[in-house]
Amino acid sequence: MAHLISPSILTADFGQLNQVVEMIDNSQADWVHIDVMDGVFVPNISFGFHIIKSIKKKTSKPLDVHLMIIQPERYFSQFRDAGADLLCFHYEASQHVHRSIQAIRELGMKAAVAINPHTPVELLGDILHDLDMVLIMTVNPGYGGQAFIKHSYSKIKRLKEMIREKNLSTLIEVDGGVDFNNAPLLIQAGTDVLVAGNTIFSASDPEEAILRLKTA
Ligand code: DX5
Ligand code: ZN
Repeated sequence: MAHLISPSILTADFGQLNQVVEMIDNSQADWVHIDVMDGVFVPNISFGFHIIKSIKKKTSKPLDVHLMIIQPERYFSQFRDAGADLLCFHYEASQHVHRSIQAIRELGMKAAVAINPHTPVELLGDILHDLDMVLIMTVNPGYGGQAFIKHSYSKIKRLKEMIREKNLSTLIEVDGGVDFNNAPLLIQAGTDVLVAGNTIFSASDPEEAILRLKTA
């Protein structure tokens, strides 16, 4: 499978939200990555349902919603109603990960679990077959524009092996510090979906940056 690109709008100019979403919609991007932060699980607050609904109206691309909030299960149905197609919560933020995955699927969305840099991929062994995707954080969550953590390559490779051994089609998404240099290496290691914020939105031509990542 060719890899997918999911631009993260976190660091885009929100005064120009319509144009940003239009640009993504016209680009080679596959999904739109939406970062929701509660100021408790991570030291930053981003945005919620109202903004997601506005984005949904402007794009035909699936919304890849990354929740960085504690007790995420309290809000699953509201994220579905706001337009999430794929809902991702943190392993570290949910006490009943298996139940949460089932709840997302019962609401008709694809389910993903994210892991922080300190969380080993091996912990996912007993839930992997229930997941559509695993998100490997390659920075500590909270902000865009941070430096990629190099240890992540070995985590991606180990997770890919686990997925192959079990004959599953679970996708691996990588989020944090993705750039033009590491993108080919990440794909080689087994990444299926690249999230990128800074690399796209600090480029003079964001649409071209998306194309460059897509053809990496
Ligand atoms: C970080 C977010 C990321 C972030 C990535 O907590 O989950 O999606 O926007 O931004 P870059 O690509 O700039 O590291
Ligand atoms: Zn994210």
